Amino acid sequence: MDLPPVGLGTMGIDDPGAVETAVDVGYRHLDTAQIYGNEAVVGEGIAASDTPREELTIATKLWVDSLAAGDVAPAAAASLDRLGLGSVDLLYVHRPRGDYDPERTLPALDGLVDDGLVEGVGLSNFEPDQLERAREVLDAPVAAHQVEFHPYFGNRELLADARDHGYPLVAYSPLIGGEAFDDPVLTEIAAAHDTSPAAVAIAWALAHENVVTIPKASSEEHLRANLAARSLELSSAEIERIDDIDRERELYPE
Ligand SMILES: NC(=O)c1ccc[n+]([C@@H]2O[C@H](COP(=O)([O-])OP(=O)(O)OC[C@H]3O[C@@H](n4cnc5c(N)ncnc54)[C@H](OP(=O)(O)O)[C@@H]3O)[C@@H](O)[C@H]2O)c1
Repeated sequence: MDLPPVGLGTMGIDDPGAVETAVDVGYRHLDTAQIYGNEAVVGEGIAASDTPREELTIATKLWVDSLAAGDVAPAAAASLDRLGLGSVDLLYVHRPRGDYDPERTLPALDGLVDDGLVEGVGLSNFEPDQLERAREVLDAPVAAHQVEFHPYFGNRELLADARDHGYPLVAYSPLIGGEAFDDPVLTEIAAAHDTSPAAVAIAWALAHENVVTIPKASSEEHLRANLAARSLELSSAEIERIDDIDRERELYPE
């Protein structure tokens, strides 16, 4: 799936105005999930913006208790209802646990694609062997894999899988959930470019092949700054320096 380099992560956003502002300032990929409890908020924000629905990529995720074969279609229908949409562009398996069973869950997701309710099937927080099994079972190609990816957690193996199999890796928590602002290396590189450590963290993520990202932001200032990070170009020496600060710090371990 062709995804814009910077989308909006909406976990924690409970104001439709923030979503509307995001769309108005240029975000075209919005990422929510059943478990965030804000699909209705995201739907309201989309409805309030002037941007036509077809210009937006809307993604949501089925939580681990909605992954039994018979639960997938009703859970997806409930998400569409809350979003106020007839279809979503991406429907993810949020985590491969709980009721997840590749042989049962994934054919149910293929069924939603066949019915036109979902454009692409996404996976999130999968390990390489789980990705391989999913590829074997799914009729639909893997549209995207959403994983934690930031300067403290490089996830090299999953990056290589995305590159080898040609799907986008959607980097979540690209600002290390806020820790990026205190990092000395990011701060120093930001000063050299007269920008913020947030912009440097986003530009670093985007410097990797097949990577797009979804920073969460609520204020117009942060929303605009994160989108503007698309045009920040880091040198290969700077990218390597940031690669080297990886400390296997995972914010969302299993
Ligand atoms: N698939 C999964 O299992 C999974 C897990 C975790 C997250 N995610 C997705 O990834 C998205 C992003 O991850 P995240 O929410 O963990 O964290 P993040 O994007 O790494 O960081 C968000 C934090 O940074 C602040 N911020 C944003 N832009 C800023 C800027 N330019 N300057 C200063 N502060 C800034 C935000 O504050 P303000 O809100 O005040 O702007 C917020 O506190 C989530 O919203 C969600 O969609 C997915």
